[in-house]
Amino acid sequence: MSDKEKSLRLTTASGTPYYEHEDSQTAGPRGPILLQDYILHEKLAHFNRERIPERVVHAKGSGAYGTFTVTHDITKYTRAKVFSEIGKETRVFLRFSTVGGEKGSADSERDPRGFALKFYTEDGNWDLVGNNTPVFFIKDPKKFPDFIHTQKRDPYTNTKSATMMWDFWSLNPESLHQVLILMSDRGTPISYRHMHGFGSHTFAFINAENERHYVKFHFKTLQGIQNFSDAEATRMKGIDPDQAQRDLVEAIDRGDFPRWALKVQIMTEEKAASYKWNPFDVTKVWSQKDFPLIDVGVLELNENPDNYFAHVEQAAFAPAHIVDGISFSPDRMLQGRILSYPDAQRYRIGANYEQIPVNRCPFAVNNYQRDGAMRIDGNGGSKPNYFPNSFDNIYNDEVYRQKAENLGQNVVAGWYDRNGAGENDHYTQPGDLFRLMTLEEKQNTINNIMGAMKGITGPKKDDIINRQLCHFFRADIGLGMGIAQGLGVDIVQHANALQPN
Ligand code: HEM
Repeated sequence: MSDKEKSLRLTTASGTPYYEHEDSQTAGPRGPILLQDYILHEKLAHFNRERIPERVVHAKGSGAYGTFTVTHDITKYTRAKVFSEIGKETRVFLRFSTVGGEKGSADSERDPRGFALKFYTEDGNWDLVGNNTPVFFIKDPKKFPDFIHTQKRDPYTNTKSATMMWDFWSLNPESLHQVLILMSDRGTPISYRHMHGFGSHTFAFINAENERHYVKFHFKTLQGIQNFSDAEATRMKGIDPDQAQRDLVEAIDRGDFPRWALKVQIMTEEKAASYKWNPFDVTKVWSQKDFPLIDVGVLELNENPDNYFAHVEQAAFAPAHIVDGISFSPDRMLQGRILSYPDAQRYRIGANYEQIPVNRCPFAVNNYQRDGAMRIDGNGGSKPNYFPNSFDNIYNDEVYRQKAENLGQNVVAGWYDRNGAGENDHYTQPGDLFRLMTLEEKQNTINNIMGAMKGITGPKKDDIINRQLCHFFRADIGLGMGIAQGLGVDIVQHANALQPN
């Protein structure tokens, strides 16, 4: 038998060839199965362990590999090697997702879309874990689990609940900006290819002189924005719940590689101190008039992973993964996320999840972490497992030393001590966004909101609707009126209900 023939033989997981794959061993032709049929045990036992926990959010997703190419020089802002020269190419992995649904939920749900990117750079993996929206619902990580509970299933009915969602949104008016985007037709993109991506948070760029600029990342789809109407999205849930997954795989298979132009907005430290909005508040955007978009490069997806579970399900992105030349900002949500993702992944995939091929840094990895479940990289072999030591030549490179930052501040533990510029203005930017829409976009948004709010039920129904209407009115009278009329709310009664007793 040739080596090739040998390599094609059916074997157990430990490599023993065998013949009886489909039939179990029995005591006689009609007798019961024997305990010694290890092949049967192995098959059933492994099958029982096929599932890993789905992501607690963003469980339904699709991913692909690709390339990021630098087209413009931004080295005056950052020394990150990924941006070091025009023409430089870096391999990437991008996972798109919806947020609230389970792994089997429909792709065309009204929901933000995740846009999580891993750049395999020579300075380590850089993960930019954003969404298709430039803002988010909340601005403090302490609110995140409560918020997500309202997007998942009601603990009693085990169904999605418009009452929970609008109750939370109406009690947290900082959500209004993102709610308005979600309720516009951008809440139901026609595919993952036809939407923008955003880093959403403010990050920092550090240049060769150790100077800091704040930065926001924008990925503009080169396929053009295309959205489903509410009715089309609802219909698609029945026709093909995996339509965005299918669209992505098929586009890449036929060589129609989706592309996005990466652009950045840059803000100096001085401007950050005086800008009319808190630049580290993820519920706000930076005006593109004040901070125009600067071209950086092009992202292209050109390779479908050959196995969904191995690459997409086991992918682990973390805002904590930054590289030299890119740094954090004081954005509180970003700070919370630094902790949350690797913690989730140690639970979801295991302590050594960074060794799985999709997550592994393709360049040198040297550290003194050892052991743990599923350690598969040789575990450091016989090399020392402590640092410093007198035996290996591993060193900490001075080049990567971080510049000291002055944090001379008092501890502030609540919103009552955060009254800076625009800090509690949750209405101007959503109002501006609404006023920017075309007449058709405005009407669709109003209709979508009405449709979504009609699901509010129960004894607190009127309170929730009144509270949320108030936010819409504060953002824009036309928006408030449109929704109030659509819901059949008597405006005079509504105004009276809002008067203090
Ligand atoms: C996934 C937590 C805010 C985008 C996740 C996961 C957790 C999490 C635990 C699952 C990770 C995994 O199992 O691999 C949080 C917390 C947040 C927060 C605590 C706020 C403090 C945000 C924001 C964005 C975002 C503001 C976007 C701007 C994503 C994306 C994924 C994700 C895209 C899916 C990543 C993937 O494709 O694997 N989040 N999140 N999250 N989150 Fe967040």
